[in-house]
Amino acid sequence: MRVGLDGIGVSFPKAFIDLGLLAEARGVPPGKYREGIGVRRMAVAAPDEDTVTLAAQAGREALRLSGTSPEEVGLLVVGTETGVDHSKPVASFVQGLLGLGTRCRVFETKHACYGGTAALQMALDGVRAGRMPGRKALVICSDIARYGLGTAGEPTQGAGAVALLVSENPRILNVEPHSGLHATDVHDFWRPLYSKDALVDGHYSVQCYLDALTGAYRHYKELCGEPGAPGFSDRFAALAYHVPYGKMARKAHRQLRTLDGDAQPDASFERLVAPSLRFSEEIGNIYTGSMYLALTSLLAHAEASLEGQRVGLFSYGSGCCAEFFAGRVVPGALARVNALQVAQRLEQREALDVPAYESIMRAREGLDERPVQSVAPDAFRFRGVEAHRRTYVAPPT
Ligand code: CAA
Repeated sequence: MRVGLDGIGVSFPKAFIDLGLLAEARGVPPGKYREGIGVRRMAVAAPDEDTVTLAAQAGREALRLSGTSPEEVGLLVVGTETGVDHSKPVASFVQGLLGLGTRCRVFETKHACYGGTAALQMALDGVRAGRMPGRKALVICSDIARYGLGTAGEPTQGAGAVALLVSENPRILNVEPHSGLHATDVHDFWRPLYSKDALVDGHYSVQCYLDALTGAYRHYKELCGEPGAPGFSDRFAALAYHVPYGKMARKAHRQLRTLDGDAQPDASFERLVAPSLRFSEEIGNIYTGSMYLALTSLLAHAEASLEGQRVGLFSYGSGCCAEFFAGRVVPGALARVNALQVAQRLEQREALDVPAYESIMRAREGLDERPVQSVAPDAFRFRGVEAHRRTYVAPPT
C-alpha cells in the first residue's frame, strides 16, 4: 500500500527582521550570522499570532489546496513544543477553527522538535493499518521559537507551521516504512514550566544532534540490510535535515557523508541540501515544522525536478529523539508545492526594525493574561483571554 503526504500547507507570521540589522544592534560582525550560523531573516510573531493561529492557517491551506473537506479528516494531531495551555491541546482550538467534524481523534504531541515527526509516523501507521478507511489524517507542526533578547540563541529564533495531510495513494510523497531511530536522555535544550523562553546548552546541543544523526542513520542502514554500504546516501536525490539554522544542516550533511566514507564530505552539499534551506533562511527555526519546511523548499528549489526520485529525511528533537527515513516524490508534486506560493508570500511581509522587534518580544510577556482585543481578521487571529479562556477569530472563508 502506498501511504504518505497528500497535501501540504505552510504558514508564517506577517513580519520579519533582517538579521544584518540585529547583528549591528548586538555588536556582532554580520558575517557571524550570515555565514557563521547561516541565517538571513527571522519571522517574528505579532501579539495576535500564536501556535494556534499558525497551525490553523497551515491546516486550512493544506485542506484547500488538496481539495479535502473537513469531514474527510479522521485524525488531527498538532505537534508542538510551544503549546498555549497545560491541558487543552492546540489541536482542539484548530479543530474548532477549521470546522472539522466530531468523528475525529484530536490531540497534541510533544517531544521538542521531534513532536511533529512522532505524530506523522503514527498517522502513517494508522493509515497503513486501515484504521481510517476513506479518510485522511491531518498532522500540523506549529511553533514559535524563542530564546530571548541578547541570548546566543537569539538569531536562531523564528515562527511558523507546516500542515501535512496523510492518506493512501498520496499526491506529494510516498513515505517508505523503514525508520532509523536514536533516543537518549540528554539536557541539551529545554523550556522549564516557568519560562516562556527556551534554555539551551548551545554547543552541546549541536553535538547531541550530530550524535543522534549518527545513531539514526546507522540504524536505518541496518534496517535496509546494508550496514556497511559505502556511499549509501547516493541513493537519495536530495536530503532534508532538521534546520535550527542553516549551518547545522551543513554540519549534519558533512557528518552523514563522512559516515558514508566520503573523503570530500562537503562536496555534495550545494546539490543535495542547499535548495532545502531557502525558506528557512527567510523564516528561521520553526522547531517541529523545520524539516518539513526544508522538504517543501527542496521540492520547490531543486535544480533538477525531484519527481519520481527518493529523498532522505532526518528529524531531530532535543531531549532527545531522532529519526531517519525516506520517501519517493510523486509525479505532479512540484505543481502542488508551487501552488503554496511561499516565495511570493514571503515577499509580502512587513520588515521590522530592531526597536519594533524588541517591543513585540517584550509585549509577549503577560500576553496570555490580557483581555480581549478587537481585531478585523485577514487570517486566523488570537483575540486575547476572556474569563481565563483563549479566544480566536477566523477570517471569512
Ligand atoms: N564570520 C563568519 N563566521 C563566524 C564569524 C564571523 N565574523 N564569527 C563566528 N563565526 C562562526 C564560528 O566560527 C562558528 O562556526 P562553526 O559552527 O562552523 O564552528 C559559528 O560562526 C558560530 O559561532 P559560535 O559557535 O561562536 O556562536 P555562538 O556561541 O554564538 O552559538 C549557537 C551558536 C550554538 C548555534 C547558538 O546560536 C545557539 O545556542 N542556538 C540555539 C541552539 C540550537 O539551535 N542548537 C542546534 C542543535 S539542537 C536542535 O536542533 C533543536 C532545536 O531546533 C533547537
